[in-house]
Amino acid sequence: MFGRVKPLDAILATAERKSLKRTLGWFQLTLFGIGCVIGTGIFVLTSVGAQKAGPGLMLAFAIAGLVCIVAALCYAEIAAMIPVAGSAYTYSYATIGEFFAWTVGWALIMEYAIAASAVSVGWSGYFTGTILGELGIQLPAWLSAGPLALGGAEGGFINLPALLIALAVTGLLIVGTSESAKFNAILVAVKVIALTAFVALTLTSVEFETDNFNPFLPAGVFGGFGTGLGAVGAAATMFFAYVGFDAVSTAAEETKNPQRNVPIGLVGSLLFCTVFYILVAAGAIGTLGGQPIMGAGGVPLEAGSPELARQCAMPEYADVLVCSNEPLAHVLRVLGFSWIGNAIGVAAILALPSVILILIFGQTRIFFVMSRDGLLPEVLSRVHPRFQTPHVVTAITGCVVAVAAAFFPVGQLADISNAGTLYAFTMVAVSVMMLRRMDPARQRHFRVPALWLIAPLTIAGCAFLFLNLPAAAMLFLPAWTVLGLFVYFFYSRKRSHLAQGIVEVHAEALAEIEPDIPGIADRGRP
Ligand code: ALA
Repeated sequence: MFGRVKPLDAILATAERKSLKRTLGWFQLTLFGIGCVIGTGIFVLTSVGAQKAGPGLMLAFAIAGLVCIVAALCYAEIAAMIPVAGSAYTYSYATIGEFFAWTVGWALIMEYAIAASAVSVGWSGYFTGTILGELGIQLPAWLSAGPLALGGAEGGFINLPALLIALAVTGLLIVGTSESAKFNAILVAVKVIALTAFVALTLTSVEFETDNFNPFLPAGVFGGFGTGLGAVGAAATMFFAYVGFDAVSTAAEETKNPQRNVPIGLVGSLLFCTVFYILVAAGAIGTLGGQPIMGAGGVPLEAGSPELARQCAMPEYADVLVCSNEPLAHVLRVLGFSWIGNAIGVAAILALPSVILILIFGQTRIFFVMSRDGLLPEVLSRVHPRFQTPHVVTAITGCVVAVAAAFFPVGQLADISNAGTLYAFTMVAVSVMMLRRMDPARQRHFRVPALWLIAPLTIAGCAFLFLNLPAAAMLFLPAWTVLGLFVYFFYSRKRSHLAQGIVEVHAEALAEIEPDIPGIADRGRP
């Protein structure tokens, strides 16, 4: 089982056949990275992060950003070396072997699907507040929030807008809609302009008070194991705001002078987002205040919990940051910039569906490759005769995403997704070190500088963030893995194509179904 390692040469032979022109410079890479990363994390989770850490949210963004920067360097080396579909799953298959690759693939399923659900719920907050709110339509509480906060009822029954957007995006993916490079660039501009306007208006506002940053760490740096509170608890949640940067690593093959440009693009886009996020948090907290609502014993109430929902329904909390489902638009409205607040809401409504699309897309490619490897049923890699899309797996994924979005709150979905991502990033760091040992002579388009420092730092950083997630999110990963092991031992192990001596790399099969998403197509990893 542990000896089932997919031969790297076979994988790379395909990569060579598919190799692309090197056209990207560091600037395009940086823009591309920013486009993939900005989404629900900053637009929506800002209020969740403030409830966990208060103004310490700014520190949380810095911590999560640093972990992502070291992880991104590891990703870059392996992605440039094995630029094929399947991402961390394929890298692990070629190094640590099938068993761990299975656990990584299984964790990635959790990462993508649940992240797509989280972004759908984030979209719902802006849609309900900005579009319906401005039209004077009040969606009943039972239709605008899910009931399943992990701690009990949140006051809702179903999050209908979240369910519908997830299904709509799934429909688009099934009929083969893809994002063009131009459309993508426009969305990047929309997001960056919206956030820049927010920073400019809030930081220069007369309402900006340095007193609002006091106390800076109302829940401390460490809020306690399993609570997900404090600056590091918020960092574990806000990590979500950086997920997606690996798209830059996967574009390494298309990059001119990748040894120089890939790290500049990766570190550049992450540093840019880190600074931007800290400024957005500073603007929101400096103007509106960002202290958490405390429960018994002076401990912040759990984000997404029924008790917090009850408190937020009280008139005295009507305007506070931590109660808003559309925090950035809300801040500007309270400051009197109603129409700019609404414009930011519209920016989020336009831009977030593309993040959902990229996430569901990524998820279906992982399923697709695992199915082609014989580890999942063949039906999952069936391609629609007319649309040329993997319609079965897209429909299944979309339904799961929609149901999770309909019933869970955004913060908890993001935490669960983060648990899967952190595991996958850890395995990528392990794979990079193993490949350096197993295959030192192989050409690397990009080498991590000081790998033996950076890779262990990545592993330590991911473990640290994982251990600061709330207990429920932390436990979800082992529970999900146990389920995955059942599937592996009772289904996949004996059907594995590799075990049967078949080595496939799926280039032709994937080429049939890849839409035109620059930097993503042919690689399967958004
Ligand atoms: N980083 C992406 C977001 O925040 C997933 O929506």
